[in-house]
Amino acid sequence: MKVSIKKLQSLKNELVLVPVVQEKKKVALNKNTAFLKKDFSKIGNGFSAQYKSVALHKNFFFIGLGEESNLSSYKILQAFQKGIQALKNNNPSQFSIYLSSIDLKEGYGKLIAQACAQSFYSFNQFKTGQKPSKSQINFFVSSKDEEENLKKELSFAQKINGAADWARDLGNLPANELNAQKLAEHAKTMAKNFKLVCTVWGKKELQKNKFGALLSVNKGSYDDPAFIILEYNKDKKNLPTLCLVGKGITFDTGGSNLKPSKNLDEMKFDMCGAALVLGVTQAAAALHLPIHLVTLVSSTDNRISNTSTLPSDIITSYSGKTIEVLNTDAEGRLVLADALSYAEKFKPQAIIDAATLTGACSVSLGPWFAGLLGNDEKLLNKIKQASSKTGEKVWQLPLSEEHMEAMQSQCADISNLSKIPGGGTSTAAKFLEFFVPQKTPWAHFDIAGIAWANKQATGFGVALLVELLQNWKQT
Ligand code: BES
Ligand code: MN
Ligand code: ZN
Repeated sequence: MKVSIKKLQSLKNELVLVPVVQEKKKVALNKNTAFLKKDFSKIGNGFSAQYKSVALHKNFFFIGLGEESNLSSYKILQAFQKGIQALKNNNPSQFSIYLSSIDLKEGYGKLIAQACAQSFYSFNQFKTGQKPSKSQINFFVSSKDEEENLKKELSFAQKINGAADWARDLGNLPANELNAQKLAEHAKTMAKNFKLVCTVWGKKELQKNKFGALLSVNKGSYDDPAFIILEYNKDKKNLPTLCLVGKGITFDTGGSNLKPSKNLDEMKFDMCGAALVLGVTQAAAALHLPIHLVTLVSSTDNRISNTSTLPSDIITSYSGKTIEVLNTDAEGRLVLADALSYAEKFKPQAIIDAATLTGACSVSLGPWFAGLLGNDEKLLNKIKQASSKTGEKVWQLPLSEEHMEAMQSQCADISNLSKIPGGGTSTAAKFLEFFVPQKTPWAHFDIAGIAWANKQATGFGVALLVELLQNWKQT
């Protein structure tokens, strides 16, 4: 996707997206564009400018943003995606976005670019003869000020979108193309391109370092596990250290507690948490954010075989705490446990993990929100703020003492399965909290319902976490 900013006068007969808010339906289309005004007046009365409505007239796609007073980042993303979807049916090699019809506020440029990237993404590397779509998008603004601002926002957005597309590609790769070692190779290549320090541990190093929980999930696998440690700004002094942790299960069969076959193919997406944090790391480096970022990914597939972990097995995690594995399909929390405890080494100001952790999260929040849980309200509030800016919605779920009681084990320090039905997203997060270094602010994103949609990785969260890191101040 290439973008450019152009003067209104050069607007010709190409396809043009024109956003419109209800309050300013009439006055919006005045500046310098008599011809646009004429066209709009033709459909004007029939077009409500209602949120997500699209009206086509000649080469114009008018898209409704609803009431200006109710406008949000989320709505801008959604409405533009709707408009672009309509426009995409014409297979344009280029199109334009007219922005003088709305009051262009700070951040809108980024959001619109984000919507474009999301709508134009496709996973086609395995389709014979298909070239990656190279669309050119021209933005039209009316003032010099708007142009300056937009230029900055678009160049920022390009880097975030590049990282999000890269994360989407990783998410979409099937397990025969992406096992733990291959995921680590992708991380290494990225590290090289963005001048990061990357260390990868295989089975031997994990055994030496006693990563018993990650190893137990890998036990049924033919392939080696990988633990990826990526550092951005490793040797810079006086920068705040933050730690990202991702679940990198390259395929989740459930293990001995085998999953049913319906939608089992979607378990190739069980490494989307890893893809997300790796993508964010890439964007942080591309944008030269002033932080020291440590990204940890625990990766393996979760298989059923004659060497798989069995329900009732007791394992010892990196922290030294023992876990009774009552369900081998609750593997995400196991691989994350070791990584979260290991994060202590870096003494981070905060730890943020992302994981497709529970089916329960997708039941309760659907494809609309990521579940957000954690031990520090200040950190969670910052995340909510970032979320409202990037239009990627999160919903906080509870985390309390009761959730811990439900995981008491008769023979180990904790069990990986709650005895009490319901609240699965909270109990899973509570399990993670047990392994988070003492007194470290920590937040957990459960992206099970939102990491993919219609069998495609969404790239959810890259923009959100970059927004958080960009404005980082200690909680
Ligand atoms: N990767 C799954 C969670 C998942 C399931 C995400 C479906 C998206 C769609 C995770 O490893 C898992 O299997 N969780 C179990 C936990 C249970 C055994 C306590 C679940 O959610 O059923
Ligand atoms: Mn599972
Ligand atoms: Zn899983």
